[in-house]
Amino acid sequence: MSQAFYRKWRPHQWAEVVSQEHVVRTLKNAILSGHIGHAYLFSGPRGTGKTTTARLLAKAVNCLAENPADRPCDACEHCLAVNEGRFLDLIEIDAASNTSVDDVRELRDKINFSPSQGRYKVYIIDEVHMLSTAAFNALLKTLEEPPAHAIFILATTEMHKIPATVLSRCQRHEFRRIPVNDIAAYLQKMCQQEGIQAEPEALLLIARQSTGAMRDAISLLDQLASTGERITLSLAQQVLGAATSQMVIEMVEALLARQSAAGLDAIHRSLDSGVDARQFARQVVEYLRSLLLIHMGSGDQVDAPTEQRARMASQANAFALPHLLETLRLFNAAANEARNSWQPGLMLEMALAEAIAWQAAPQPAQATTLPPTALNTSAASTQPATLPALTESAPLTPPSTRPALDAPSRETAQPAPPPPSTEPEASPPPSAEGTLNLSTLQKNWASVRAQVKRKRQQTEALLNSCTSLQIKDGVIVLVFSSDLLKSKMEANDNIEITRQAISSVLGIPAPALRCISAQRSGGAQSQQDLSTPDGMIKTALDLGAKIVHKD
Ligand SMILES: Nc1ncnc2c1ncn2[C@@H]1O[C@H](COP(=O)(O)OP(=O)(O)OP(=O)(O)O)[C@@H](O)[C@H]1O
Ligand SMILES: [Mg+2]
Ligand SMILES: [Zn+2]
Repeated sequence: MSQAFYRKWRPHQWAEVVSQEHVVRTLKNAILSGHIGHAYLFSGPRGTGKTTTARLLAKAVNCLAENPADRPCDACEHCLAVNEGRFLDLIEIDAASNTSVDDVRELRDKINFSPSQGRYKVYIIDEVHMLSTAAFNALLKTLEEPPAHAIFILATTEMHKIPATVLSRCQRHEFRRIPVNDIAAYLQKMCQQEGIQAEPEALLLIARQSTGAMRDAISLLDQLASTGERITLSLAQQVLGAATSQMVIEMVEALLARQSAAGLDAIHRSLDSGVDARQFARQVVEYLRSLLLIHMGSGDQVDAPTEQRARMASQANAFALPHLLETLRLFNAAANEARNSWQPGLMLEMALAEAIAWQAAPQPAQATTLPPTALNTSAASTQPATLPALTESAPLTPPSTRPALDAPSRETAQPAPPPPSTEPEASPPPSAEGTLNLSTLQKNWASVRAQVKRKRQQTEALLNSCTSLQIKDGVIVLVFSSDLLKSKMEANDNIEITRQAISSVLGIPAPALRCISAQRSGGAQSQQDLSTPDGMIKTALDLGAKIVHKD
């Protein structure tokens, strides 16, 4: 089998590294001046050139070319040895599989031996954020007093996980996502040299889909080239599932128009074509995030083809901001949960149903089912890191502030959202101190969950899948959609943690708590519980979903 394109196309010289000029310039200067650091940290998104640049640096410091400006020459014995992976003084360590303190100690012991071939022993530690704390501490000792012949290059995609003590000892370089046009130009060059026929629009599509990671772009090109056909835009769309993003747009369109059937149809067509449910959910999140940016006036940050922009702008404006935020949260939760779900498509269907219901649901007089927002507040903690405002100001919209059925979906016509409140401390005190009633419990459910989450995240995740709350003869009953979830909730001290949280939030003695499964209780009883007006399950049932009973 031929070598994967991205390996074959790993830059061998500084000039071949795309779009990381700020890093390359500094490193080249260091080689020229001979001021070479002993510890470097390369951080940035995956596939943007960190390992590549680390190897270039390793080559350059050991290159035999006479003129430092020519290093790495890519022709001397040392350069060739590095290229072929047989240079003894280049030690690459994957921290993901060598995380223990012993691994680092072993490295430390060996480091004092002089280089066997070159001038420097270079250690590249990839995925360095995976090291254990003890291993980091051991590494730190070495970074504090490295032997003169040693150079460390640490690489990570998650700089925030690197201890400050380590950061402060490294020369830091941040790698950037590679701009779409630069990726497309690079692919064009590859095509010319590899004799691949490709339309520029197809290359642009690949570049866009790879979200700034050159490795992904090269792999996609590789995949398309292997069809042996000329790479046209339509071939690229077919293979890369760009048709899916059309489905995303259609689903959002249907959501805005409250056309459940059309929305479900878009989801199903996408899944039928082989797209993974989680992948689809992620695309929806990515798309909604773009709409949010447009809505907030930062449309220039959105990278979308011109022909899509007008449609995106009109969708962004059709959304009321609270509805857009809620929809983002719902699909974000679906993206996270689909992995563990036994029926991944259901997560998408429910997210769609809820997003439509959020806008359209009339007020139930006495709800016994949790409002969708209460069921999904955990999504707030998993919002993309680039949108901190979302998590901080995300209102927990209680049912009473939801727009009525006939409310137009314009933002100006929306009732104002309640003041932001995600902290349990900020929630209103229980109305009837010392007593347990359903409405108090429901009102404070988000706070209970927040409290539980601090004790044990897994327990809170289980509460997140609880479909309905009831109180029977003073006993709180949590309804789960399956036996499995119910028994998970009953395991360990999940129930105890929840009881204590309820007790402390409501200021009452820890109440009795019981779990039931809708699956087991079956029949009229569970249908009754689940089909309470306004419930998301009810909406899903209305849309044609079936509750599956496992015998
Ligand atoms: N800036 C770049 N210029 C040219 N090619 C690049 C660049 N970045 C990545 N590539 C291509 O992608 C491949 C992988 O890059 P590399 O291993 O350096 O990424 P990385 O940043 O270390 O990613 P990861 O975080 O996943 O380890 C390279 O072999 C090369 O083909
Ligand atoms: Mg790497
Ligand atoms: Zn050389």
